[in-house]
Order: sequence, then structure tokens, then C-alpha cells
Amino acid sequence: MRPMSQAIIELTAETTQQGVSRRHFIKGAIAASAAVSSANYLFRANGGALLAQSPAAGAVERLITLNINGRSRRLEVPPMETLGFTLRYKLGLTGTKIGCDRAECGACTVLVDGVPLYSCSLLTHTVRGREVTTIEGLEAEDGTLHPMQQAILEEQGFQCAFCMSGFIMNTVALLDSNQNPTRKEVAEWLSGNLCRCADYDKILTSVMRAAEITRGA
Ligand code: FES
Ligand code: FES
Repeated sequence: MRPMSQAIIELTAETTQQGVSRRHFIKGAIAASAAVSSANYLFRANGGALLAQSPAAGAVERLITLNINGRSRRLEVPPMETLGFTLRYKLGLTGTKIGCDRAECGACTVLVDGVPLYSCSLLTHTVRGREVTTIEGLEAEDGTLHPMQQAILEEQGFQCAFCMSGFIMNTVALLDSNQNPTRKEVAEWLSGNLCRCADYDKILTSVMRAAEITRGA
């Protein structure tokens, strides 16, 4: 395939010599769309990095500071990069999982100022100046697990555990606001998290146990 720039030069030359014809217009459109398709392929092949774009200087890459698990992290983040991507592929915080990558499964849930949000659908630039907590930030410095982590160890609440960190982070937010939820309230609160192993009964049991631990019961 010719590069798009070459196709445009040829098209312009032909147009100048012969005037615009329907054949020339179609030829140029095909060349342009092929180049765009190729750009999309490059975009996907890099897991979302904006490789194929050619932005104006200074318009894309920006150096920003993030507060992740109580630490300041300074890094370059393009405006369209998602928090899930930044956490996993730039900061190595792979406890946050990317499942659907379109705000449906909850696997990517993290806390932003204590609020559970889908990191796959949140632009990293929007969390500047806010406190982001991931699964890696739950354990206390002395190694004490969060009650939900402890409860999962006791109840063996997950099978493959791909969905687990998302459920845990959402449960942390629940227990911050309600330490004595009913099983029904837990199910409703966690309705934005999906488990492909359908291990919901044990997950709910784990959350109920986590609530007990939180209350000191
Ligand atoms: S990966 Fe974010 S909601 Fe599924
Ligand atoms: S335990 Fe496998 S997806 Fe939830």
C-alpha cells in the first residue's frame, strides 16, 4: 500500500492536470481510508497507546503528577489515556484488571477519593489532585490485610479471581459507608461487578464476613 501522503500527491497532480473527475475522487478516498484503517491497527496493536497519531507539538504528551496509593507519581500521560492503562502499563500496578474495557464488568474498579470508579473508562488526566487507591494500596504497612482481603482468605470467595480486585475495591467503599449491610444490600451495591465464574454466593458470603471483621465481631 502506498503511504497516504504519496496518494494525495498523485491525486493532486492528476487533478491539476485533468480537473476533478469522479474516478480521481474515488481513488483518493480509497487511499485515505486505507491509511486510516492502518492507523487504527497501529492504535490497537499497542494496547491503546496513541502511536499512529501525529499531534501538534505539545498537544498530546503532558507531564502530570498523580497520587496513587499515597505516593506521588510523576509521569507523561497523553490526554486520551485511561487510568486503567496508566496503572497497569506505566506504573506496573497489575492488580487492577481490564476485562471488558468499556464500563460493563467492574474488573478495573479503583477508588478515587474513596469513590469506586471504572478505571477503564476514566481519563487519567481527570484524577490529577485526587487520591487514587488500587488493590496494591489496601494492605497496611505492617502487613495487616483489609477486612475484605482477610474474609476472602477465610471464605475462599473466588474461583479464577480475575474479577476479585474489582469486587474488593467496591466492597471497601461499601464498608466505609455501611459496616452492617444486609446480604441484599451487598448484592445491590456490587451489581456493577460481574464474575464470569458466577461465584456470587461465595463472594456475598465473603463480604458479609468482611463486615463482621470490620465491626470487630
Ligand atoms: S474493564 Fe472496566 S468495567 Fe470492565
Ligand atoms: S472468580 Fe472468575 S471471574 Fe470471578
